[in-house]
Parts: sequence; C-alpha cells; structure tokens
Amino acid sequence: MQGATRSWKVRPLGQPLRGSLKVPGDKSIGHRAVMLAALADGTSRLQGLSSGADNRATREAFAKMGVAMESDGRALLVHGPGLDGLRTPDGEIDCGNSGTTLRVLLGVLSAQPFSSRVTGDESLRRRPLGRVLRPLRGRGARCEGTLDTRLKDETAPVEVLALDGHRRLWELDYTLPIASAQVKSALLLSGLYADGPTALREPTVSRDHTERMLVALGAPLQTMGPAVLLDPSGWDRRLPPLDLTLPGDPSSAAFLVGAALLHPRSRMAVRSVNSNPTRTGFVEVLRDLGADLAWDPKGETHGEPLGDLHVGSHGGGSFRRGGVQRGGVQVGGELAVRCLDEVPLLVALAATIPGRSEFTDLSELRVKESDRIEALAAMLRAFGVSCETRPDGLALEGGGLRAGAVVDSRGDHRIAMAAAVLALGAPGETRVLDTGCVDTSFPGFIQALRALGGDLEEA
Ligand code: S3P
Repeated sequence: MQGATRSWKVRPLGQPLRGSLKVPGDKSIGHRAVMLAALADGTSRLQGLSSGADNRATREAFAKMGVAMESDGRALLVHGPGLDGLRTPDGEIDCGNSGTTLRVLLGVLSAQPFSSRVTGDESLRRRPLGRVLRPLRGRGARCEGTLDTRLKDETAPVEVLALDGHRRLWELDYTLPIASAQVKSALLLSGLYADGPTALREPTVSRDHTERMLVALGAPLQTMGPAVLLDPSGWDRRLPPLDLTLPGDPSSAAFLVGAALLHPRSRMAVRSVNSNPTRTGFVEVLRDLGADLAWDPKGETHGEPLGDLHVGSHGGGSFRRGGVQRGGVQVGGELAVRCLDEVPLLVALAATIPGRSEFTDLSELRVKESDRIEALAAMLRAFGVSCETRPDGLALEGGGLRAGAVVDSRGDHRIAMAAAVLALGAPGETRVLDTGCVDTSFPGFIQALRALGGDLEEA
C-alpha cells in the first residue's frame, strides 16, 4: 500500500503492556556504520542494521558510487574500497526522506575528485542545507544548493563539483551556531580528506556517534566536552573494516517505553538498546516524573554503550502518580538536544498528565521531517488538549483527553508514532493517517506494540 494512504486504528490501552523485545538497529549509528564501512579498506560486517528506508538510502547512495554490498544471511557485508576508492556516481543520488544521509554525505562528496548531484523526496527538499554547505565551502568545497526563497536557505538538489587536480580540502576551525550531529559529522568526514586539522565546537554536545566510531577505528580524533579535533597529519588515511552488531535504537524504544508507562501494571523490557547519554535524555525526563525505568548494562560496541531498558521492574510501570504531583514536563537547554527526536513522544505523554508542560529551545523541530511544533499542536488539539506554540517550542495543559481523534502524521514518522501512543492513553478510538512514513525508522512498530498487548491495527 502507498505510504500516504496507510493508516492505523488505535484503541485505548485496556491492559498493561508486557513482554521483552528488540527494536531495529540504531538509525544514527547505522548511517555512520555504512558510511565508514564504505570508506574503509576491506570488508566490514554489519549485523542488525535497520531495514528502514533511511538506512537503506545511505546504502544505496554508496552502492551508486561503486561500493559492493551483499548479505551473508545474517549481516550486511560492505566491501570498502578505501578513502579514495569511491567512483563517480551512476546518476543523481536520491536520499529519499533521510536528512542524515543527505547532510552527512555532502561532507564526503565535497572532498571527491568527481562531481555529483544529490536530492531527496519532497519533504527533504524543503529542509535547510546552508548550515552544512557554508562551512564546507569555507574549507574549499565547491557545492551549491537550490535557493528556497521562502525558507531563505539552500535546499536540495545540491550540485557538488569535483575538486580539481589533486587538490585536498583545507583545514577548518568552526563553531557550529546550533548543536547538530549531522553538520558535525559532515565536517568530520570531510576532514578525513583534508590537508589540515578540523577543529569544531558546538554550543552543547549533540549525539557523538561519529566521534566514537572514528576513535574506535583508530582515526586521529580527540574530544573535550563540546569540542572535537581531527588532525590527520601523520595519519596513513586508512580506516580498518568494522565488525559491528548495531545496538537497538533508543529513539524507537522510546515509543514502546512511553506506551508501557500509560498503564500502572506494565512490565516490559527493550533489549540491547544504545544507552549513549547524548541520546537518552528522554529516560531522564521520564524518571524525573517518577517513571519506573532501569538500565541493565550489556557492555559496549565500537565505543557505544548498550543495555536492556526495563519498565516497571520495581513494581509499577506508570509515572502518573509522580507526574500528577509534579505537574508536567519541562524540557529545555542542553536536555532538549539530548532528547530532540523524542520530543514528540514526550509531548504525547505530557498530554496524558494533568498539569502544565513546557518545551523550549526546540526551534530545530520546525525543520525536521515536518514542522514538528505545528504538527504536535495539531495532534494535541485533535485530542482536545489546549496548547500554545512558540517559535522555539510549545506549552500544553495535560489531562482531559477527548475521545475519537483523527490525526494526520504529515508524513512524519515520529508524529505518527507519538499520535499512536497518545491514542493508547485516550478514551475512544483514534485514527492516525499517513502512517507509511514509519517505515523510515521503525518498520514493525505496530506489530511490536501489539505483541506487548496494545490494541491497534492497520486500517
Ligand atoms: C541525527 C541528528 C539529529 C537528529 C536526526 C538524526 C543524526 O539532527 O534529529 O534525527 O543521526 O546525526 P540534527 O543534526 O539536525 O540535529
């Protein structure tokens, strides 16, 4: 069925969620693993890579540049040709809906001795790219996006011109105006090809998967708080192949955990989830509300910690009692960066708790797969929850949900999943429209919720 025509029917949670399951491999780590495997010398083995459309877009982009990939039945084998082994792409590179593929890839493409053209679907072509193109040009790259007069920014399609002769990109000393792992990663990957150091500073540390993976692969990178230095002088510019089992995606696990918290007797676990603190701000927010959440650590893979995330192991899944006493959720500052992708879920949960919740410092949500601030406000209003939007966030009065809402995901996977969670906590049946987008990050989402005891189905 076409993505836009798919929808879900969701009924209130009449029983606790129970069970233990896994979620698809971490999408952010998956992008980086495919990219670094494609730039490595030799065959990498990636197990547990998400089959979601976003990670697929990254695989297809590198396949188009001649990187051979195959499955051995259990893992994806990526035959890396080395940092200088990419070939002129066989046609335009289409990143689909994946902002991470597009932005991070620009860092690699702009260092190549061949020209390329990159684009994406309608939603991706509306997302700002100046943030990555400007610093890349600042180190000698010749790349230009399409001017979007409404956005006042460059967007896809982007033309990237070959670096002439044997020229390399220059060194770069750059302060990111906004914390962004995509921009940071693009600049670091371009830095692998540069003839001098890449020194970056962020206002606060965004997800640091690229840094961790590069360090695990022996690249000359150091971090100190929100500062990163990649200095290739004296480095042989060879990345060894990876043998990586991907941890589960905390951004997917969050939706199952959130659903479980709607019932006081839920008891469930999501196994082998990435527990990198740059990603787990949502756990801190929920614990602060009194949620019974616990990590059972399971070691490390390529510098990334992982663990089983348990709900209700100390007696009760619900945060409601704690939530009512404390009166809502407050998200802002550096915490906002560490739970950026989980804000839709946190807004949905906040709507079920009586009290005022405030989400600030989130202007980035306006340029995600949808304008998430407006999409969330529309979702809340559909359930009868009063809210105010601001340029950088929203405030809402939780509790008193109305039955029988219809919510349009606006083609945004995280809005669709947040609406499903909110619907589980609301009286009456809800219809979530345009749910095909969920395949970008969490294929099998409704099957996972159903396996735990949720009452929802494809309509
Ligand atoms: C991501 C970085 C974040 C995040 C996105 C994935 C990544 O975007 O919202 O879903 O994998 O680097 P920004 O870099 O735009 O903050």
